[in-house]
Amino acid sequence: MSSVAMHPAAREGTTISDLGRVATEGLDLTHGVVLYLEGISVSFDGFRALNDLSLSIDAGELRCVIGPNGAGKTTMMDVITGKTRPDAGTAFFGQTIDLTKLSEAQIAHAGIGRKFQKPTIFERHTVFENLELSMKADKRVRRTLFAKLSSEERDRIGEMLKLIRLNDSTHRIAGLLSHGQKQWLEIGMLLMQEPRLLLLDEPVAGMSDEETERTAELFVSLAGKHSLVVVEHDMAFVSKIARKVTVLHEGGVLAEGPMDLVQNDPRVIEVYLGR
Ligand SMILES: Nc1ncnc2c1ncn2[C@@H]1O[C@H](COP(=O)(O)OP(=O)(O)OP(=O)(O)O)[C@@H](O)[C@H]1O
Ligand SMILES: [Mg+2]
Repeated sequence: MSSVAMHPAAREGTTISDLGRVATEGLDLTHGVVLYLEGISVSFDGFRALNDLSLSIDAGELRCVIGPNGAGKTTMMDVITGKTRPDAGTAFFGQTIDLTKLSEAQIAHAGIGRKFQKPTIFERHTVFENLELSMKADKRVRRTLFAKLSSEERDRIGEMLKLIRLNDSTHRIAGLLSHGQKQWLEIGMLLMQEPRLLLLDEPVAGMSDEETERTAELFVSLAGKHSLVVVEHDMAFVSKIARKVTVLHEGGVLAEGPMDLVQNDPRVIEVYLGR
């Protein structure tokens, strides 16, 4: 049909499954910027959790955000996902989607996925079923929970199982997975919905060294196709995956740049790395 042929996602050269996402018709990446925050301020009872924060993430970028406890990292994610409304400032997804005007559900629907620290998976279902459920829960695709999987959908789940390294645990009950495997499963569940921007808050907290290593590889492999914003205190992990690093302090950007520059910035050492 001509309406499908005209779909912007098709013009962008993205996959067929993207055609099901109504809201990303509006995701305009013409300037290569997927997320743009400017002058964001958030106060809680007079305390400025975010103070004139400005930040811009390129499409396909893997950005690490670091900074001391209370710097405003999680609050920044709350603003991006519509959980917290800023008192001032602008927040755009692509060129045209004004995040400050959308609900949390609309923002998720528009293509921003968020991973919280505690994995939220269906513990009593198998790994496969978890991925299946997350795909079917995708409101962008009109279908029922009881519809049979098509062979393409099975293939997609199979690909995801390999990507998140759970293909040997396909039929395991999710509640029996290790902490790290549960985290990967949740990431897989988010990815089934094909977010354009993925926000990950302390994804390797509580993981073993081996799991942390695997997670670093996973994130590096996701960059390019997805844009990622990763908040993490584990500096060994950040060093492994980092390209550009943003240091938040007292609700604003203290420093930004390549890891080695940021690491040697005396202000960053003073407020964070040196402690
Ligand atoms: N809902 C809220 N009500 C009141 N204060 C809040 C609320 N959410 C966050 N804050 C405060 O805002 C500041 C920033 O918190 P935030 O959770 O964003 O920091 P963070 O950088 O994520 O820290 P951490 O590294 O410890 O996770 C903190 O002082 C926190 O106590
Ligand atoms: Mg936090």
